[in-house]
Amino acid sequence: MSGAETLQQIVLAQYCDGVPKPSDFRLETAPLPEPKDGQFRVAHVWCSVDPGTRSRLSGGDSYAAALPLGKPIDGFSVGVVDASSNPDWPVGTKVFCAGGWKTHSIQSGKGFIGKVMDVPGVPLSAWIGVLGVPGLTAWFGMKDVARFKEGDAVLVTSAAGPVGATAGQLAKGWGASKVVGVAGSDEKCRWLVSEAGFDAAINYKTASDLSGAIAAEFPKGVDVLFDNVGNAMVDTVLPLMALNGRICISGQVADYNLKPEETPGIVHTKPFITHRVNMQGLVVFDFARGFPEALGSMAKMIASGALKIQEDRFEGIAEIPEAFCGLFRGENSGRRVVKVGAE
Ligand SMILES: NC(=O)c1ccc[n+]([C@@H]2O[C@H](COP(=O)([O-])OP(=O)(O)OC[C@H]3O[C@@H](n4cnc5c(N)ncnc54)[C@H](OP(=O)(O)O)[C@@H]3O)[C@@H](O)[C@H]2O)c1
Repeated sequence: MSGAETLQQIVLAQYCDGVPKPSDFRLETAPLPEPKDGQFRVAHVWCSVDPGTRSRLSGGDSYAAALPLGKPIDGFSVGVVDASSNPDWPVGTKVFCAGGWKTHSIQSGKGFIGKVMDVPGVPLSAWIGVLGVPGLTAWFGMKDVARFKEGDAVLVTSAAGPVGATAGQLAKGWGASKVVGVAGSDEKCRWLVSEAGFDAAINYKTASDLSGAIAAEFPKGVDVLFDNVGNAMVDTVLPLMALNGRICISGQVADYNLKPEETPGIVHTKPFITHRVNMQGLVVFDFARGFPEALGSMAKMIASGALKIQEDRFEGIAEIPEAFCGLFRGENSGRRVVKVGAE
């Protein structure tokens, strides 16, 4: 069978223990599935790798159920309908969906799926990046969970990732008094300031005193912490929060690979009383009704240059495991996407 006639997919070969490795995954080939009545088939062009996927790969449940061994891995995909038994989704329609680490997926039009808007200057891959779940996480995390207001001083962690970079740029565009990013290399910090318009960036790997470096940037305290990293980071920033400060728990990339007993605790709890700090977690799909409006706004911002995107591209479905594992070594600058089919 040629590649064009087969489905290729990455499945879970063994449960991940600690930092994931490519041998935890396996590439499988199967006959190309045909859509039944009401269904259509999407030929994926780009697939995403997402750090949050790690929480399903240890064999235990998190906020999403554990993935059984041998099952294809979740992920987001953007591609073109190449077979259809659903008149609302004809052949040739460009769609983004939760298609998984596969070359093709069968869809019914329900769940996380949408039609790609053709916006000049916006690449197709952006529909699983800033115009996908990462951008939506930034938008609703900043607006509805952190309850951003004009004049806020904002700190974003894992700031050079697609969620962090978008969250910081949105805050800046909405009138933040200051936006500072925390990231893991000087190159990432340079991009945040020179390209993405952050006011400052701190390399947490080389800062000898991270708390002191953050305090120096926020003499009046941090109004909004948008955290993508986890408990140790939150605990570092809590004593630096301003009165009525808000913390959005977006992600916990530093904690995903740890067992519950290894995960650091949060001890600096006094500011919850003294500074009336509010901390709230985010599940972006809670805001699904607002997705079309947010996507429309962000597409226009990308096209006009008001929202900068950065992509880190891989080629070939077999590269997905390596692309995923590299997220936990800080290798990605921006959204990591893998090309699995022709555009
Ligand atoms: N709540 C929701 O609904 C929702 C939805 C989507 C995503 N998320 C979360 O949002 C966060 C950001 O997602 P993203 O797609 O933009 O990914 P991302 O931030 O690009 O994640 C990868 C980056 O995380 C950082 N990192 C990795 N290991 C780390 C560690 N041990 N300590 C500190 N930083 C570490 C690295 O950057 P450095 O070089 O800076 O270390 C790496 O490049 C993730 O935690 C994700 O799970 C949440």
